[in-house]
Amino acid sequence: MKLFSLQFVTILTVAFITADGIPLNYEGSGNSVSGSGRTVLVQQEKKDMGIGPVKHVTLGTLDPKMASKGKDLFNNKCLLCHDLDQKKIGPPLRDITKIRTPEFIMNLLLNTAQMQQEDPIIKDLIVTYKVPMVPPNLSNEDCRSILEYLRSVVK
Ligand code: HEC
Repeated sequence: MKLFSLQFVTILTVAFITADGIPLNYEGSGNSVSGSGRTVLVQQEKKDMGIGPVKHVTLGTLDPKMASKGKDLFNNKCLLCHDLDQKKIGPPLRDITKIRTPEFIMNLLLNTAQMQQEDPIIKDLIVTYKVPMVPPNLSNEDCRSILEYLRSVVK
């Protein structure tokens, strides 16, 4: 119980500091945020699920058959704008499964328009890349296969 309230206070502190617009420093001194405060914040970012119908994706060991289907779909539907390693019309995607949750990726593919209007990360990307991504218009299963392919290309 004591531990819980301590964490709660820490979260509140982090929320307050963030809302106040003081830039947080993850690695530097960051005197105003305690070590555990930083951990809480980083965990929250890692759990960013995006916005959309996908609330939970269960990842097992890599499924090569699904990944191979995903590769075909990726080459047909995504390669035009995305290279694995270089910027094209959109960002490079080799390490995307390291920086975004599976839920975030699935929601972006299935619920593109709303993410572009409301998700802060995607809104920033549109500013950087100047154009919004065209909604892929694929089934849930096809998006899941692409996710499996993207998991398979991580170095
Ligand atoms: C017409 C060009 C275009 C196509 C086709 C396209 N994208 Fe994108 N994609 C973009 C652009 C531009 C962005 C950044 C702006 C945005 O998200 O709207 C982006 C963003 C993304 C992001 C977010 C990257 C991040 O850092 O969070 C992912 C993931 C992604 N695309 C995956 C795909 C996949 C998978 C496909 C194929 C099903 C695809 N895209 C098809 C142009 C495209």
